[in-house]
Amino acid sequence: MEKIFVKTPMKTYPIVFEEDFLALADMVIQQNLSGRKMCILADKNTAELYGQSVLSQLEKVASAVYFYDFPAGEMFKNLESIYHFYRFFQENHFDRKTVIFALGGGVCGDMAGFAAATYLRGIPFVQIPTTLLSQVDSSVGGKTGVDFNGTKNSIGAFYQPEFVYINTKTLETLPEREFAAGMAEVIKYGCILSNAFFTFLKEKKEDIKNMNHSVLCEMIRQCCLFKADVVSKDEKESGLREILNFGHTIGHGIETKMDFQLLHGECVALGMLAVLELGRNRKDVTKQQLEEVKNLLQYFKLPLFVKYNSVKAIYEQLFLDKKVKENKIGFVLPKGIGEVYTTSNVQKQEILNAIEFVVKA
Ligand SMILES: NC(=O)c1ccc[n+]([C@@H]2O[C@H](COP(=O)([O-])OP(=O)(O)OC[C@H]3O[C@@H](n4cnc5c(N)ncnc54)[C@H](O)[C@@H]3O)[C@@H](O)[C@H]2O)c1
Ligand SMILES: [Zn+2]
Repeated sequence: MEKIFVKTPMKTYPIVFEEDFLALADMVIQQNLSGRKMCILADKNTAELYGQSVLSQLEKVASAVYFYDFPAGEMFKNLESIYHFYRFFQENHFDRKTVIFALGGGVCGDMAGFAAATYLRGIPFVQIPTTLLSQVDSSVGGKTGVDFNGTKNSIGAFYQPEFVYINTKTLETLPEREFAAGMAEVIKYGCILSNAFFTFLKEKKEDIKNMNHSVLCEMIRQCCLFKADVVSKDEKESGLREILNFGHTIGHGIETKMDFQLLHGECVALGMLAVLELGRNRKDVTKQQLEEVKNLLQYFKLPLFVKYNSVKAIYEQLFLDKKVKENKIGFVLPKGIGEVYTTSNVQKQEILNAIEFVVKA
């Protein structure tokens, strides 16, 4: 069984990579979690697709297994869903030892993690991410939470799982558009941390698109290594971890202003192009480098621009982000491909030009 370890001051835990769910019971035993009540939380889609396989594994090692499913989608990532989780936990007398299993994408993982972090001041939970985005990003690092009153992830907690179980075969049922959205985050790692990884993605793009299993595994594993490394150095985002927000500042602005019609990853793709253009104007990025990223995003059918009538409205939206401190927007800006720096010293006109690059009336 192949493992990567995430080391944080709060906890050290493994990420395992498998091609089925058959090793799940063993992992539960290895992590000293067997013999307890266990509860699978899944959205309707992942419940239907993978609920039974996970359930049959947990039945081997649990004192009792519970199953709770909820409607899929970002619009259900709210406190009302959490309320229903708590109700279910309480009705079934879950105690401090009960283990929660989040079976699904980032929405499920973020919510299950938050419920686990707060029920009885914290009960153990396990991440079983089933989307590309959740396998390369959201399941690793311990950020949990829900949206509140139209603001994304504004209620939450840092809370690390007991382990992360990645079954890469689950990606075979993932809709193409969701897969592409995950690829935006994958490409992000290349842009911020490794030119070599970016080159790997360029060279293997056909294999990735054709879901060549060993290439996919290598790619996901490498992303987890990147994320684990960044998170290990900065669990609570006081510095280094900010680089993971590359493309997210403008991306979030677009995401919110478009009323979440675009997927998160699609907005990240747009946000990355915008800051690459900003970097090009600063002479930190060449035209060719910008084109290379653009071509790769396009290959995975990610959007290169979006139709929206007000660049200014998106600009103003940036100041409403929870990451804005004293009216200063922190930007993660590129230096070529594979290196970034953070700064809040960015002129209004530079930002407007960057937004204009990807937002067309
Ligand atoms: N915690 C973090 O650090 C972090 C990082 C990035 C994103 N996020 C959050 O993650 C969320 C987005 O996650 P997501 O993109 O995984 O979305 P998601 O959880 O909504 O899943 C997308 C869709 O795919 C379906 N699905 C999931 N797995 C499937 C599979 N294997 N086969 C078929 N369908 C499947 C789901 O039912 C859903 O309809 C956002 O809420 C975002 O804020 C969190
Ligand atoms: Zn993201």
